[in-house]
Amino acid sequence: MPHKNIAAVILAAGKGTRMKSSLHKVLHPVGGRPMLHHLLETVDQLEASRKILVVGAGREQVEAAAQDCEIVTQTAQHGTGHAVMVTKEALSGHKGDVIVLYGDVPFIPLDVMQAMIDARHQNAKTGIVVLGFRPADPGKYGRLVLNETGELERIVEFKDATEAERAITLCNSGMMVFDGACLFDWLDQISNDNASGEYYLTDLVEIVHKAGRKVAVVEALEEDVLGVNSRADLALAEACFQNTRRQKAMDDGVTLIDPATTYFSYDTRLGQDVTIEPGVFFGPGVTVEDGVTIKAYSHIEGATVRKGASVGPFARLRPAADIGEGAKIGNFVEIKKATLDKGVKVSHLSYIGDAKIGADANIGAGTITCNYDGFLKFETIIGSGAFIGSNTALVAPVSVGAGALVGAGSVITKDVDADALAVARGKQSGRAGFAAKFREEQAAKKAAQKNKKGA
Ligand code: UD1
Ligand code: MG
Repeated sequence: MPHKNIAAVILAAGKGTRMKSSLHKVLHPVGGRPMLHHLLETVDQLEASRKILVVGAGREQVEAAAQDCEIVTQTAQHGTGHAVMVTKEALSGHKGDVIVLYGDVPFIPLDVMQAMIDARHQNAKTGIVVLGFRPADPGKYGRLVLNETGELERIVEFKDATEAERAITLCNSGMMVFDGACLFDWLDQISNDNASGEYYLTDLVEIVHKAGRKVAVVEALEEDVLGVNSRADLALAEACFQNTRRQKAMDDGVTLIDPATTYFSYDTRLGQDVTIEPGVFFGPGVTVEDGVTIKAYSHIEGATVRKGASVGPFARLRPAADIGEGAKIGNFVEIKKATLDKGVKVSHLSYIGDAKIGADANIGAGTITCNYDGFLKFETIIGSGAFIGSNTALVAPVSVGAGALVGAGSVITKDVDADALAVARGKQSGRAGFAAKFREEQAAKKAAQKNKKGA
């Protein structure tokens, strides 16, 4: 049953000291996108009617990335209970559910959120749903203390727990769903009389029991509630994200020769029968169509690679590179903001930037578009079927007409007409027998010098 009147409260006021970073913790990217945005995407899928972001430390940065969230500031951080208390005014009149999430737990799946909401509505008496999990190392997580009938009695923070309580393996992920009609009345009853001197959100469990309401527990997998507190956690979150993404790619009909060495962005789009060789990195904004091969050690961002094209090995595609159907980009080629039509070949050692290249043109080894004069960028246009000889410098703005030929080693500064030949290099001169004569003379000079020293 869908329950649509949900307010999501996302806590992100903590300092994140252990990241040792000038960037706010929730803005560190995983899969090329800030953690916070991963979480907000799932909240959007939940169709929450309100999205409230609680900010404090480093709030300017977080606010700037908050998309369409309502912002509430928690000026001083007095604990998770306090962080929810500060949303009281913003949520006055909200009678639906409140789901509390952490900005640094970005990968909580939609179905887990949904299971929590459903658990709240299974029994009208249920006032709180707690998301528990059983981590491999329970460490310093809060522990869920159950009674004899298996119901959650209270949550005890590690700092405040007895040895026996610390031995409990069912832990608090921190995420909870509340009956929003009562939440703030309950919050008024918590105190900061504990080992940290903080207002614990977790104290609401006992308060709700006293109010004669019920508490439910939903269990999640550890990977679903992975929190990021340090750079090591960030690396772990990235590894989890990549593994999920790789599996999805393979499920969707992509061959990854060595999945562990393929790196995706959150938005990488791949067609069917794409083959990706080892060591390929996708930055944000890439679309790869059906039947494409990306050869080993290529770096691709912001680019589109159309049907049946082949890229790499060791190729670099930068933003707004558009590689046409069946085109071939070879080794040590860099392409930026350039549209290559069907069947274009740039096979070796080239830089193509700010360019348009017509169908089936062949760009010889070492060709460079000189697109920048130190101040401004200029465009190179190459017509279909043109042949650009190796080691050509195309000094933009310049155009080469369809079917034209450019001689190897040319520095092209003027437009070339369609079907014309352009050669722009020093004329070759030659003298018959010169080399042989030169060798003979020099050898004789060297021998004379040696004799002089020996004398
Ligand atoms: C909290 C839980 C603990 C649980 C653990 C899971 C409480 C009292 N404890 O502990 O049971 O096992 O999370 O990770 O709730 N925050 C604010 N304002 C504050 C304090 C925190 O916005 O005043 C935010 C932080 O930015 C963070 C989240 O709330 O995103 C959790 O805070 P943290 O201090 O890490 O809580 P823990 O002590 O780890
Ligand atoms: Mg924590």
